[in-house]
Amino acid sequence: MKISELETSLGTGSYASRDITLVKGSGATVWDDSGKQYIDCTAGIGVANIGHCHPELVDAIHTQAGTIMAVANAFANDVRVRCMEKLISISPSGLDRVFLCNSGTESMEAAIKFARQSTGRKSVVSTMRGFHGRSLGALSATHRKEYQDPFAPLVPGFVAVPFNRAEAMEKAVDTDTAAVILELIQGEGGVRPADAEYVSAVERICHDSGALLVIDEIQTGFCRTGKMFACEYFDLKPDILCLAKAMAGGVPMGAILVNHKIQTVTGTHGSTFGGNPLASAACLAAIDIMEKESLAQRAAELGDALVSRLKEQNLPLIREIRYKGLMIGIELRQKVTPVLRELQQNGILALPAGQTVLRLLPPLVISHQQLDSVLDGVISVLGAQG
Ligand SMILES: Cc1ncc(COP(=O)(O)O)c(C=O)c1O
Repeated sequence: MKISELETSLGTGSYASRDITLVKGSGATVWDDSGKQYIDCTAGIGVANIGHCHPELVDAIHTQAGTIMAVANAFANDVRVRCMEKLISISPSGLDRVFLCNSGTESMEAAIKFARQSTGRKSVVSTMRGFHGRSLGALSATHRKEYQDPFAPLVPGFVAVPFNRAEAMEKAVDTDTAAVILELIQGEGGVRPADAEYVSAVERICHDSGALLVIDEIQTGFCRTGKMFACEYFDLKPDILCLAKAMAGGVPMGAILVNHKIQTVTGTHGSTFGGNPLASAACLAAIDIMEKESLAQRAAELGDALVSRLKEQNLPLIREIRYKGLMIGIELRQKVTPVLRELQQNGILALPAGQTVLRLLPPLVISHQQLDSVLDGVISVLGAQG
C-alpha cells in the first residue's frame, strides 16, 4: 500500500487526498517519497512564508529544544516574553497585550470569548464567505453551509452579512454586538479583497456602536500580502488582531493581540501549550528572517510581476485575477480540481479556494526562476484546458 493510501485508511476521512506523500522541503521546493520535486505554491496553506526548513529557524528550534520546552503559563519565560514584545512591536499601534495559543481557530476562540467578556454583549457579526476556523465558536463565524450544518447546533448569537456591503453591516450591528469579525482579504472564500471604503465604514460602525473590531490576519499576516499585516494597507487599528499560520515558520502557534478595550478575568481562559517556549523561539526566528530578508517587499514585487505577466496572456479560461502580494486567486471559468491535478503532475503544487478559484500561496522566498516556472506551468495548463 502506498503511504498516501495508508494515511487515508488511518485517518478519519476528514481530508481529501492529493495522492502524494511529501517527505522533505527546502525553500520553495518539496519532494515526494519517489524523489520527485515540486514547486510548492501551497506552503502548507500559507504557513511556510519563510520557506521550508530555513537554516536559522532550524537552529533556533534546535537550541530551544535543548534548553526548555515545557513551561506552564503561571511561570514567566524569557523567550515567551521576547516573543510577545516582538509581536507587539510589529503590530498596528494600540495593540499592546498578547494571548498566545496554538492555531488559527484557537485565536478566534480567544477573540470571541474576550470580546464577549469585555463588552458584556452576546452577538457576533461576521461576513459571508469568511473563514475563521473549525472549532465550534470559530465555525459559528464561518458562514458556510457545508462546514456548519453537520455540526449544528452552533454557538448562539452569530449572524453573517454579505462581504463588502457596508449597509448590510450597518443594519446587523447594534448595541448587543460584542464583535465584528472580518478578513481583509478573504482567503478560503476565494481571495477576495475588502474595499478600502468598506473597511473604513466597518471601523466607523464598530466605533459608533461600541462593538469590537476583530481582524482575522491568520492567512494574510506575516508578509504574505506585501506588508507585515494587511491592516497596514488600510491604516487600520483593530481592537483584536488574530494571527497564526506563518507566525512560527511551521511550528504550530496562534496569537491574538488586543488593545485597552479588552479586559479579561484571570483564570477564565487559558491554554496548556499556548506560548510554548519552542513555538516562541520559532516565532522570534521566523519574524527575524522576514525582516532581514525583506519578505514583505519581496512578496509585493513578485506578486505584481507574476500577475502582470499572467494578465498579458489573456487566457480565455481566466475570469478574473485577484491578489495582494503573493496571495493570488485566479478565478476560472471551470472547476479548479482538474487544473490542480495537472499542475501537480507537472511539478507544481497549488490550492483551491472554493470550486473555481486557483490559489497560489508560495513561500515568499520563492526564486525568480521558480516563479517563472510556475507562470509557465499555469499558462500551459490553463491554455491546454481552455
Ligand atoms: C483566515 C483564516 N482564519 C482562520 C483559520 C483557521 O486556522 P487553523 O486552521 O490554524 O485553525 C484559517 C485557516 O485556513 C484562515 O485562513
